[in-house]
Amino acid sequence: MKTIPEIQKMKDEGKKIVALTCYDFQTAGILDSAGIDIILVGDSLGMVVLGYENTLPVTIDEILHHTKAVRRGIKNALLVADMPFLSYKVDIKDSVYNAGRLIKEGGASCIKVEGGKEIVDTIKAMIDTDIPVMGHIGLTPQAIHKIGGYKVQRDEKVIGDAKALEEAGCFSIVLECIPVSLAKRITEAIKIPTIGIGSGPYCDGQILVINDMIGLTEKLPKFVRKYLNMKEEIEKTIRMFINDVQKGDFPKKEEGYE
Ligand code: KIV
Repeated sequence: MKTIPEIQKMKDEGKKIVALTCYDFQTAGILDSAGIDIILVGDSLGMVVLGYENTLPVTIDEILHHTKAVRRGIKNALLVADMPFLSYKVDIKDSVYNAGRLIKEGGASCIKVEGGKEIVDTIKAMIDTDIPVMGHIGLTPQAIHKIGGYKVQRDEKVIGDAKALEEAGCFSIVLECIPVSLAKRITEAIKIPTIGIGSGPYCDGQILVINDMIGLTEKLPKFVRKYLNMKEEIEKTIRMFINDVQKGDFPKKEEGYE
């Protein structure tokens, strides 16, 4: 089982950290046996699995349900569970309790929170309760209404946020949609690993939403590389099945029982 010290060691030794999101048991098993370092049950769950318009409606119980499924599929990767909107930031005790549920009931090894300097007290309280925390700065989708859209985040304040999260005890930080040179400066300014998404090649690791990179998502941001056209493959397969059933070719006698 991959540990947090091993993830830190990867940065120390200059080895890239590879992460993907995942939401179900079978896919988790595939990612794990392929050798992924970190699996995140992201609140992107809301958009790519549950069909919500954004991540805001996702609940702690929905994340918990999917974290349990993913846990059952993993033998090696480090499992991170995302804290959804309103499950933290409102009250520190509730935040720690909700984070604890993802560890205790969900089987995650650590949790992820969005935000900078303003949430260091919450992060410290989680870490004091032995809950390891991954930070997330830059474009933070839970603040979509405040930010006004899914935009590149150019404000240099993220450097201060990254340092504050490191100081608070985060073991790594996701950098989302931060310009390449700014993400490089953050990565060089802190000792803990940065995991980039849309933040260029100089981060210590990379993460993508699995549904995006395997081609299940229709409209993709520029930073996603589509490794497979899964939607097309599935559609082709379903059409073959429909055709086979309609023309009486499936099932054949030998595909049944005597
Ligand atoms: O919810 C999510 O999938 C995430 C990743 C994009 C980092 O937060």
